Amino acid sequence: MKIIKVKDQLEGAKVGLDILKEQIAAGAKTFGLATGSTPVEFYNQIINSDIDFSDKTSINLDEYVGLDGSDEQSYRYFMSQHLFNEKPFKENFLPDGKAADLEAETKHYDAIIEAHPIDFQILGIGHNGHIGFNEPGTPFDTTTHVVDLTESTIKANARYFECEADVPKKAVSMGIASIMKSKTIVLMAWGEGKSEAIQAMVEGEVTESMPASILQKHDDVIVIVDEEAAKLLK
Ligand code: F6R
Repeated sequence: MKIIKVKDQLEGAKVGLDILKEQIAAGAKTFGLATGSTPVEFYNQIINSDIDFSDKTSINLDEYVGLDGSDEQSYRYFMSQHLFNEKPFKENFLPDGKAADLEAETKHYDAIIEAHPIDFQILGIGHNGHIGFNEPGTPFDTTTHVVDLTESTIKANARYFECEADVPKKAVSMGIASIMKSKTIVLMAWGEGKSEAIQAMVEGEVTESMPASILQKHDDVIVIVDEEAAKLLK
């Protein structure tokens, strides 16, 4: 793992943009994308850049079960607002959280990932070490699956909803095995609240109880952390 420590989120987003540009220059065509607060400034930097995504593909990590893409809390809506409306791609894939047959949807999403190998994957990390919605205890060999969100993730995500009860209890998430197949992975983390997860991910044991720790086994992972998220690192 390569660790890049930055002053703050803005500097980190700019570092992320430089890496993205290098990847595109080297031929990257398929981008694995994340939602949540972590990549928002990175997406702003992309919007304000001259990068053209019209021949590029995006594949998002996850989507809530039960929310339609037009629902303001859905991840598809989030991506449209924060990136896709300003930077059109050739195609944008997210799991269909409204699929009548969710098991079939997970297989369909795996086929999409298989057909579009991810060159560059952007990740955030949960306080409990989740990546995508792969919560602690998820087997490392998991592909796309339906997840029961943990209490801690529901609480953390309640800030986007009117009340905690409105947060969906399930999501469809790309699995850890698929994330690990990405050629290059950039994980970003900002703020003290992520410092324990970052320490465990970088310096701790590789264990399914800390999903992000598997990234120690990937040979091209760049971790961009601000001073607070990095504060427990040796
Ligand atoms: C989002 C995702 C999650 C988030 C994580 C951190 O698509 O897959 O793993 O990256 O929950 O969320 P934030 O960035 O809101 O702290």
